Amino acid sequence: MKHLINTRDFTLKEIDELCLRAEEFLDNKQRDILSGRMIITIFFENSTRTRSSFEIAAKRLGASVVSLDVSKSSSSKGETLLDTAANLDAMGPDAIVVRHMRAGVPHILSKHVNCPIINGGDGSHAHPTQALLDFFTIKQHFNNNISGKKIAIVGDIKNSRVANSNIELLNRAGLEVILVAPPHFLPQTHLRVSNNIKEVIDEVDIIMSLRTQTERHTNQIYASLKDYAEDFCITLDLMGERNILLLHPGPVHRNVDIDDVMMEDPRCKVLEQVKNGVAIRMAVLEKLIDV
Ligand code: NCD
Repeated sequence: MKHLINTRDFTLKEIDELCLRAEEFLDNKQRDILSGRMIITIFFENSTRTRSSFEIAAKRLGASVVSLDVSKSSSSKGETLLDTAANLDAMGPDAIVVRHMRAGVPHILSKHVNCPIINGGDGSHAHPTQALLDFFTIKQHFNNNISGKKIAIVGDIKNSRVANSNIELLNRAGLEVILVAPPHFLPQTHLRVSNNIKEVIDEVDIIMSLRTQTERHTNQIYASLKDYAEDFCITLDLMGERNILLLHPGPVHRNVDIDDVMMEDPRCKVLEQVKNGVAIRMAVLEKLIDV
């Protein structure tokens, strides 16, 4: 049995196969590949896209979905995580999708259940399906010719599980990753870094803007979001006529991460990412659940 805890759980060959399969699933047709199967989603942290994306993916494959409302579940009554896991497992699900504010929780759960665990984001550690859908979107945009392409990941990289997962995967796939952020948002890294987006904008093919993870900051580390935006917001002025693919995992802080005008610009593929997210999660569910 296989789990998806981080992007390293799949080889590049497997990921290419997932992308090919996701391509087929873009037709949005209802399928019965997972008919009679049951998937549990349990999100200990807020989510707009990821949870609904997994649930739609499961249903489009014919599976039924039970989503645990954590605010109403027993963990708010003091049940330990492992007891919650054992109880969920006893109900016989075919997969559990979990998001948690603490890094490592999906990994721990995977040791205590008899079905695949899929990480829907754990703390600032990993968000593998987000990286897979970003990778799929990039491949689609460049007709699979991605080796050697340059991507600037811009924003709160240090606290971002999306950045972590993308750095691992994109690097492995032969893209050059440049990290662009104020010094306190940069992790220790061997990658090229810059504190100024204008310094790298002429050489990149892709920009991935990230949300400032204000909920993970223990103290205020930028004078104000307005000051941050002055230097790092992706604006039309900054982009000019350049042919750059603009991505963001959402939720977008408008006019902090990306300005209103660029959100409407055809180079911005935020909604394409959301669409691709359902298809890639269908491919992941199909791969991990024995049919
Ligand atoms: C991200 C997350 O929750 O990790 N959103 C998402 O899953 N699409 C990014 C974020 O919260 O900024």
